[in-house]
Parts: sequence; structure tokens; C-alpha cells
Amino acid sequence: MTNPTLSPTPRGWARHLHLRLRLAAAGFALGMLAWSGGAPAHGDVTPQAVDTRALPQLGKDWRPENPYRKHDAAIKVGASAYNQNCARCHGLEAISGGIAPDLRKLENDCATLRDAAKKNSCVKEVDEFFAGKVRRGVTRNGAVYMPPFEAMLTQEAVWAIKAYLETRREKQL
Ligand code: HEC
Repeated sequence: MTNPTLSPTPRGWARHLHLRLRLAAAGFALGMLAWSGGAPAHGDVTPQAVDTRALPQLGKDWRPENPYRKHDAAIKVGASAYNQNCARCHGLEAISGGIAPDLRKLENDCATLRDAAKKNSCVKEVDEFFAGKVRRGVTRNGAVYMPPFEAMLTQEAVWAIKAYLETRREKQL
């Protein structure tokens, strides 16, 4: 008798559990594929959940600062990209339910600065911080708090999301 699902031995259960985990992982992978299925095919095998072709293209080098601030089309793309990729943790319309930081507060410290130059460099620092977090995610002691999005989102999508979040700021600059 080698059927692991019928075996009452601990090893059998371990294998059974392992299989279930693998099925769960496969289901997740399929979900990710279905998720990115909305993007029109253009010969690129990289998953693209967000269509950013209508926006000015930024090239492959990451900008140190959001090039889409107050850009209406980017804000629109960013709102939908946010809802698809971030809202499940950071909350609908960026109103966090407490599981993850409230992204409306990202620039609160900048808002209290009086000096315009200091304020600008503060916002720029938040941009860099933001892009870094989104690209690489957050992992501590082996636990994934936030997944990395570098393989899923283009630079255009990441800055579009930031442009959207700038319309949701808790404190105006
Ligand atoms: C699976 C849940 C999850 C998803 C999805 C997620 N995040 Fe996060 N995010 C978190 C958690 C949890 C943290 C806090 C991590 C920590 O403890 O430092 C975080 C932190 C951040 C931070 C740093 C905030 C700060 O004040 O430290 C930014 C910026 C951020 N996320 C942006 C995004 C964006 C943009 C998206 C969508 C592209 C996104 N996140 C998707 C869970 C998530």
C-alpha cells in the first residue's frame, strides 16, 4: 500500500498536505495568469496586469521622481491599477482597514514643511521610498508582508498608482 492519501502514517499525511499545498500554489499561479489575462497580447510573455500604453512612455531606467504628478490619464490608470493590485491590503480608495499602512498618509510629514524646496525634496524622497517598496515588496524574517511587484507592474504603472494616491492625500501639500 503506497497510496499516501489513504495511509494513516504521519509521513503519509505529510505527503498529503504537501500535495494540497502544491495544488494551492498551482491554483494561485493560474489565478495570477487569469488576472493578467485582461492585457492585450503583444508578444510579450511578461504578465501585464495594467495597460499603460496610453501614457507617455518612460523608458527602462527608473525615474527618481514621479513623472506623472497631476497627469489626468495617469491618475485614471493608476486608480484602476491600485484597485486591482493594492486595495486588497491597503483598502478601497486607499482607506486602509488596518492590515497595511494607510497610503493617504505617505506625505503627511512633507505637508507640514513650510519651505518649498524642503517640501519638494521631501516628496521626492517619498517617491523613491514608494517605488522601492512596490518593486521589491517587504519581507522580514522570511515572512512576506507585501509581495514584490517588479515583475508584474511596469514603471509607468507604478508611477500612475502614485499619481492616483497623490489625489487621495490625507493632508494637502
Ligand atoms: C498582500 C498585501 C499587500 C499588497 C497586495 C500590497 N501591499 Fe503594500 N504593504 C503591505 C504591508 C503589510 C505593508 C507594511 C510592511 C511593513 O511592515 O513594513 C506594506 C507597505 C507598503 C508601503 C510602505 C508604506 C509605509 O508607510 O511604510 C507602500 C508604499 C506600499 N505598501 C504600497 C503598495 C502598493 C502601491 C501596492 C499595490 C501595487 C501594495 N502596496 C500592495 C501589504 C500589501
